[in-house]
Amino acid sequence: MKSLRILVLHGPNLNMLGSREPGHYGKQTLAEITEQLIALGDALGVEIISFQSNHEGELVDRIQQAASEHIDGIIINPAAYTHTSIALRDALLATAIAFIEVHLSNIHSREEFRHRSLLADAATGVVAGFGATSYMLALRGLAESLQQKSKSETGV
Ligand code: DQA
Repeated sequence: MKSLRILVLHGPNLNMLGSREPGHYGKQTLAEITEQLIALGDALGVEIISFQSNHEGELVDRIQQAASEHIDGIIINPAAYTHTSIALRDALLATAIAFIEVHLSNIHSREEFRHRSLLADAATGVVAGFGATSYMLALRGLAESLQQKSKSETGV
């Protein structure tokens, strides 16, 4: 089976996981989540490339860069930019790389302004509300969907 490269993007304030509002976001740090993603990626035949930024433009740049470095899929937790960023939506649409939107918390059970996502309708899937496990579910779902797609295109 072909091995895949998946870019995992984290938006603003996610560098503070572990200490940030643990009631919403759990106690695991970003480094611990990344370690778990790499371990699951090893088991699934997926290379994980991880990037966090507090800056919208840096996230846009990283998405644009993905188009020229053979990235098969993107998992993105856009954090607060979920609810505000036309720029991130446009970058994802411009690169046309399949992506999954991820949230640690269930954004639909929180404040009204978190209910709207500017990215979700363009995503292959959305996972929210399972804490750090949201990322693992997204990785399993995206890997399977990319592997199915490659099988149906190439027969392998
Ligand atoms: C979040 C939810 C967003 O509303 C919030 O701004 C975040 C984290 C989540 O993972 O639950 O920073 O994306």
